[in-house]
Amino acid sequence: MPRTAFAAVGFHVPDRLVTNEELTTRMETTDAWIRERTGIRERRWVREGTENSDLALEATRKALATAGWQAKDIEAIVYASLSPDHMMPGDGCYLNAKLGIPGVPALDVRNQCSGFLYGLAVADAWIRIGMYRRILLVGSEIHSTGLDVSTRGRDVAVIFGDGAGAALLEATDEPGRGVLSCHLHADGRFAAELSCDAPGSKYHPRVTAEMIESGAIYPRMEGQKVFKNAVVRMPEVLREALDQNGLSPKDLKVVVPHQANLRIAQMVQRSLELRDDQVFNNIERYGNTTAASIPIALAEAVEARDVRRGDLVGLCAFGAGFTWASALVRW
Ligand code: COA
Repeated sequence: MPRTAFAAVGFHVPDRLVTNEELTTRMETTDAWIRERTGIRERRWVREGTENSDLALEATRKALATAGWQAKDIEAIVYASLSPDHMMPGDGCYLNAKLGIPGVPALDVRNQCSGFLYGLAVADAWIRIGMYRRILLVGSEIHSTGLDVSTRGRDVAVIFGDGAGAALLEATDEPGRGVLSCHLHADGRFAAELSCDAPGSKYHPRVTAEMIESGAIYPRMEGQKVFKNAVVRMPEVLREALDQNGLSPKDLKVVVPHQANLRIAQMVQRSLELRDDQVFNNIERYGNTTAASIPIALAEAVEARDVRRGDLVGLCAFGAGFTWASALVRW
């Protein structure tokens, strides 16, 4: 049975840089509050007219160039996002068109911050059963058009950024190489703790002027509950992956945790007793980009930490749903 290797990872963020200082002109907040609570110094937000699938296209082009593949080499697209261009169809189809690969299947994944790892689990299963040999897995988000950038929405608005990451996955028969395992979890009892109420098909019409006025169109979050669950679930699910493979934290070259909050990542590090060089964080520059955060950080980590063939890479995520997930990859 083949395994799933990462042929290349690429990422793209908008050129518009939004500092904490800029946010202080739009809401009651301070650079110090944001940095101390989240670790974020700046994030990228799109300029008007940029679409989620545009970010994904740029990230994909970079990954294609690194791998030396053409778009026509892609046999399937898996696209993770909570912020698609439209309610329907999914962004996988828009990306398919922008890449010029009609007929190539496109699956959309809506598992928020765990979306990239849920997508990886699906792509890995497809490759293992021999259904496809080359898959494009994308995580892409535009949060900035859906945030309440005022004092009312400040707890959420300061956290999120825009960006995209793309991984080219291919079947390999090289012994020991590739995705070792993926681990997925969800607990819908916590759905309300981090959610966006409208537009929604439970409403008729799906969105009203009152919903816009009341802020029901913006994501809302019970920050402390999210925090408390994340710091337990992320190390737990990474440990689950290590245990299943008979490995230990010291075997890891690098862990790329979902970039939710620097303090969460630091607690994951402490819990697993990982050295600083074993954890890669970039939230200070991009904020939380949800499904895009792992592939963006992974693309940077591969360079910054000199990840080489045979190195063990750990990925873990936690987010709305609640959902949480991990994967171990022998690079
Ligand atoms: N600037 C200044 N003050 C802010 C603020 C902001 N951007 N956002 C909230 N506050 C205020 C609150 O109103 C509150 O004021 P009060 O004490 O007068 O009521 C105070 O800061 C503390 O708020 P609280 O929510 O208790 O802060 P916190 O220490 O829990 O930090 C988060 C808030 C959001 C940073 C933190 O809960 C968190 O990171 N949670 C996880 C978020 C996450 O990872 N989400 C994505 C999941 S993938």
